[in-house]
Amino acid sequence: MAPARRTQGREMDSRPILFFDSGIGGLSVVKEARILLPGRPYVYVADDAAFPYGAWEEGALLERMVGLFAELLDTHRPVMTVIACNTASTLAIHRLREAFPDEIFVGTVPAIKPAAERTRSGLVSVLATPGTVKRQYTRDLIRDYASRCHVRLVGSENLARLAEQYMREGFVDEAAVRAEIAPCFVEQDGRRTDIVVLACTHYPFLVNRMRKTAPWPVDWIDTSEAIARRALSLAAGLPPANGEGGIVDRAHFTSGAPAPALRRLLSGFGFQF
Ligand code: DGL
Repeated sequence: MAPARRTQGREMDSRPILFFDSGIGGLSVVKEARILLPGRPYVYVADDAAFPYGAWEEGALLERMVGLFAELLDTHRPVMTVIACNTASTLAIHRLREAFPDEIFVGTVPAIKPAAERTRSGLVSVLATPGTVKRQYTRDLIRDYASRCHVRLVGSENLARLAEQYMREGFVDEAAVRAEIAPCFVEQDGRRTDIVVLACTHYPFLVNRMRKTAPWPVDWIDTSEAIARRALSLAAGLPPANGEGGIVDRAHFTSGAPAPALRRLLSGFGFQF
């Protein structure tokens, strides 16, 4: 059972929040969550054995995720799970809620609604993995919230990998970033794209390189804070966190033994293996 205890009549809860991604992208959400949701242990799970998720066939990835979550939920007993991955959420969030009805899941999906509300030119681009741009979930968001805009879906083959490299090695090839983001920039009837939605949690780590290599300035929408706020609002319904000392945050990578660069990165984010 979940480790909970009573203090002065109030039930205290020391179950962790589980953050899930295919790699290190979910750390962009963890960064925001640390500010808004202190006092609970975090578990960071990366299904890096299957990275990149963007290249998977939908049926096979869904099956993999449901099987993996049966194990993860059993092992970590989280108070809440944040799927800090657009590629995973747009595919599996409904299925995970169905399969594990007692669990609280927070999903991460492309910020198409806020982009449609904010654009002045009416030209919006969604930069995501090839998986996310193909999803029915993404198409439905466009139909429901952005039917008045011209939305260009840009499926990037390489940006998630470039972000991984940048975070581990501190180096990224700017020409490669420029080439990946170039299709986001559209000129049409004297108007230009003015918003690019960062619809992959890996991308906020490269946003400064994107700004530098973009053909003109745009508003880059990063959903990390909104996801952390959603988690915060759901946490309001939970027993209070047992935020007294001794909290240990742990990381688990499905590939097994993580390389030293990855260990350093995760320990910089406060995680132990
Ligand atoms: N971080 C993931 C996302 O938000 C994708 C990376 C991958 O392709 O595995 O979509």
